[in-house]
This record gives sequence, C-alpha cells and structure tokens, in this order.
Amino acid sequence: MIDLIDKLQKTRDLKRDELFYLLSNFNHNTSEYIHEKAREVAQRYFGKKIYTRGLIEFTNYCKNDCFYCGIRYSNKNVDRYRLSIDSILDCCESGYHLGFRTFVLQGGEDLEYTDNDIVNLVSTIKSRFPDCAITLSIGEKSYDSYLAYFKSGADRFLLRHETATAQHYKKLHPHNLTLDRRKQCLQDLKSIGYQVGTGFMVGSPYQTIENLVEDLLFIKEITPQMIGIGPYIPHHDTPFANENAGSLELTLFLISVIRLMNPNALIPATTSLGTIDPNGREMGILAGANVVMPNLSPVNVRKKYELYDNKICTDEEAAECKVCLSNRINKIGYEIVVDRGDYVNI
Ligand code: SAM
Ligand code: FES
Repeated sequence: MIDLIDKLQKTRDLKRDELFYLLSNFNHNTSEYIHEKAREVAQRYFGKKIYTRGLIEFTNYCKNDCFYCGIRYSNKNVDRYRLSIDSILDCCESGYHLGFRTFVLQGGEDLEYTDNDIVNLVSTIKSRFPDCAITLSIGEKSYDSYLAYFKSGADRFLLRHETATAQHYKKLHPHNLTLDRRKQCLQDLKSIGYQVGTGFMVGSPYQTIENLVEDLLFIKEITPQMIGIGPYIPHHDTPFANENAGSLELTLFLISVIRLMNPNALIPATTSLGTIDPNGREMGILAGANVVMPNLSPVNVRKKYELYDNKICTDEEAAECKVCLSNRINKIGYEIVVDRGDYVNI
C-alpha cells in the first residue's frame, strides 16, 4: 500500500488495478500517510496559501431533474428565486471588500436567462471588477453559448462530470441527460480556453469502487485546472432521499489521490465536506485541497439553494462566513490570501 502511494507521488499515475487496490484497502494509517504526501505536494506548489472563491447562487430554477439534487425541476417544495443584476453586483461589491478576487456564478439550468443575459451579466461584473476572475457554473450549453460567455469575460467554468461511467450516469440522471453530452461540454470549454473544473460526488447512489477508478482516470485524461469532489448528501425531497451519505474518510482519501495525480490543480475543500463533518473543510485542506468557496449569496435566499439537507453557512452574512473560515484556516497553520488564484501551468 505504502509502495503504491510512493509510486503515485513519483509518477503521478497508477494503473487501473493499482488504483482499485488503493481505494479498496486504505485504512487509518495509510490515510495518514497519503494525506501527508498530498500536503507536501500542495505546499510545494501553493505554500500554505488558500485561495477563496465567492459563490453567488443566482438562480435556483432548473430545467433538469437530476435524481440527487434538491433543486431539481420536480421538487415542487422549492421556493424558486432569481437574483437581480443589482443584487448580484451587491454580492460582488461586498465580496470584493472582504478580499475575494474570484466570483463564481452558479445556478440551476434556468431557461429564463438568454445568452445575452449571461453575456451582459459577465461583462457588467467584469467592467466593475476588472481585477477579478469570473467563474460560471450554469450547466450544459452549446459551444456557441460557451464561446459568447468567454468572449464577454468569463475566465473559468465548473461542470462536474458527476461519474465517468455511462451506466452509473444513467442511474443518477433522467435519460435526456447523457455522459457523452457532459464530456462534449467539457471538451468544448477546454478548446475555447476556459480554465475548466470538473469532479464528482463521493458515495453517490449505486457508485462502486470501479466507478471511482474511472473518475480518477477520466480526470487525469482531461487534465482540468480545477477538481471539485465532495460527499453525496441526501436531500429529503428527492428520489434518493433514503440513500446514505458519502463517507468522510473516502472523500479525504480521494482528495489526496487526486492531489498526487494532479499536483498543481486547484482543489476545493467543499461545503458538502464541511456539512458532513464540522471540521470537514480543514481536514480537506490537510488532505491536499487548496481552495475554499464561501457563500456570498444574500442570506434571505441561502436556504432556498438547498442541494442537500443541512447545508452549512445558510444563516450567516458573507462577512461572518469569511471571518469564521479565516480563523478555522489559521488554526491549522494556513492562511487565506487576496488573489485571483489562477491555474499556473508549471
Ligand atoms: N447546474 C449546474 C451544473 O449542473 O453543473 C451547477 C449547479 S449543480 C447544483 C452543482 C453541483 O452540486 C453538482 O455538480 C453536484 O455534483 C452537486 N450536488 C447536487 N446535489 C448534491 C447532493 N445531494 N449532494 C452533494 N452534492 C450535490
Ligand atoms: Fe439542476 Fe440540480 S438538477 S441544478
């Protein structure tokens, strides 16, 4: 086991059966070992600096019906909202003063927004905050739409592949959504020139170790700049309400594996990690993550963007979240920096 971890650190790669062995047989001691190696690698590239991204959840309308997601179309108990452009700009303004230099505009796939609307939104934010990066996380669009957003100033795009196994993808999504389409979108985003983020949920229903191995190999193949993973957490109003949440230990182990395979990638310690364990985000950093994504959305909409039950940080103002997270990060010997935190191709 230790040999395999050393080999992974050295070669940044393992064969399918080796990854399978690693994920099937890790224990407390080997986890400690891989976390230490992953920390070393992250610190080599980023020191003890943690980048922040201000998350603005600007719409919870969605045309899709992903079986795991709390804001899916069929969930009639969701109180739907869209933030006005002024409200989004207010979020950016307060975020800027708190030291954020990246804004992530995330939402369901909301058909109300035309490409022009997104282009206007991006270019308005960009003209007000020219030293900030804009990340979009608004799902599957055509090549031309992605290109238009990019030309208006969007720098990055987050689109988790969710699972790299077609049969598993079908178990998580209705039939109008396919893995091929998801992969095509990722390719389009890359070829346009975005810094691209992908990723998956750990412990999503029906997930096997083989599926996770495919996820790791897929990520290695497309070499994204950002890799976001977090535990699956059930939402009470979805078809998967009674499924188990993903495991903290496996998520942390996978963060370390991903760090060793993709040394300079930007890897967040996600909100879902902080939801399954109060110290989840700190543990994520100590397992090799180097990004956090606090919420900048207005407090009155936070609970309405509930992808899963008991999501943290839904009551606090952005400033409170920032202070709380800074303190938590300082306690483990790291520091939040005022920086766009772009990917550097070393
Ligand atoms: N609509 C955009 C998209 O599809 O990429 C962005 C929003 S979507 C809600 C963002 C991510 O939330 C998804 O990629 C998924 O991995 C994650 N997510 C959704 N439901 C979740 C759950 N129950 N537990 C953990 N993560 C979840
Ligand atoms: Fe669309 Fe979750 S189903 S954002």
